[in-house]
Amino acid sequence: MNEQHRILAGQRIGLFGRGGSGKSTCAVLLAKVLAKAGYAVCVVDADSTNEGLPQALGADRTPESLLAWFGGTVFSGGPVTCPVDDPLPLAGARLRAGQLPGQYVARTPDGIRVFQAGKIGLLGPGAGCDGPMTKIARDFAFEPEGMAPVTIVDFKAGAEDASRGVITSLDWIVVVLDPSYAGIRAAATMKTMLDQMRAGYLPATQHLASPEQADVIRRAYREARTKGALYVLNKVPDAETERLMRQRLLESQIEALASIREDPGLRRSWLHGECLQSAAAEAEAAKIVRALEQHCGTATNQQSTPRHASNDALAPEAV
Ligand SMILES: Nc1ncnc2c1ncn2[C@@H]1O[C@H](COP(=O)(O)OP(=O)(O)OP(=O)(O)O)[C@@H](O)[C@H]1O
Ligand SMILES: [Mg+2]
Repeated sequence: MNEQHRILAGQRIGLFGRGGSGKSTCAVLLAKVLAKAGYAVCVVDADSTNEGLPQALGADRTPESLLAWFGGTVFSGGPVTCPVDDPLPLAGARLRAGQLPGQYVARTPDGIRVFQAGKIGLLGPGAGCDGPMTKIARDFAFEPEGMAPVTIVDFKAGAEDASRGVITSLDWIVVVLDPSYAGIRAAATMKTMLDQMRAGYLPATQHLASPEQADVIRRAYREARTKGALYVLNKVPDAETERLMRQRLLESQIEALASIREDPGLRRSWLHGECLQSAAAEAEAAKIVRALEQHCGTATNQQSTPRHASNDALAPEAV
């Protein structure tokens, strides 16, 4: 492990985008590239509905849900609340190696640790909302022996989890978009949300029961660890479509960093629940890793620079 491969240790990266755009595909590709580069990698499946992420990563099995470990949702008498109703931190969310029983962690042959926040369907009818899974995704941190991991969080489709405040606990947002109007709009919406956070907009608090809760969520936004957003094209069928996607994104001042081609092999792997394999797609994911390393390396060398001032000239779009 050389110094270069420590740069992203401890960073948290969240995947966003519209339904089916390729968030989970990108999560897998990023995890594989990071693991190959020598990082310790944790992947958190924060999608309360879809299944198959552990298989796509090549994990030995599906891990039990962290929701079960933390004692269940508030709606069924457990302690895990929805962050919209209750922004207070999840107690015991930081776990060191050895604290979490083995059934809650799956491993891949390349050493990636896979966690699952929880699946709403398995809780039965009337289970309530999936806010408790969102809170787990926001607060859960696994600290293995040795190097701090890069944590990749694969969110469900749309902007709801971002609105619930998870973006405040992520260093980087990766937005994935497919060739569709909705995909382009989803990217623009995420950019607006991040721009607003940078401009100091604060979340709604009038519904909160106590002033302490309002303080906690306002502080989370003011002190958000979010450094920037990167945009990835996926399912790109040809060069002309890529050109059009880039052109539409530029109308929202968004520059895409990577472009993953429509790949029948990836589609088949998802169909069969098999480990994703694509050298071309991994090469695109590697561009994201390099951009983040470049940013974090520069930031480390400029520690006296104010938080946002150092971001503007760099590839990842600053938040
Ligand atoms: N580059 C690609 N080439 C071909 N097919 C792809 C590609 N990326 C994703 N797919 C297909 O699109 C489907 C959705 O991809 P993926 O699960 O990564 O998207 P997602 O954004 O995570 O979806 P969801 O919103 O449902 O979580 C996959 O099951 C696969 O069939
Ligand atoms: Mg997904």
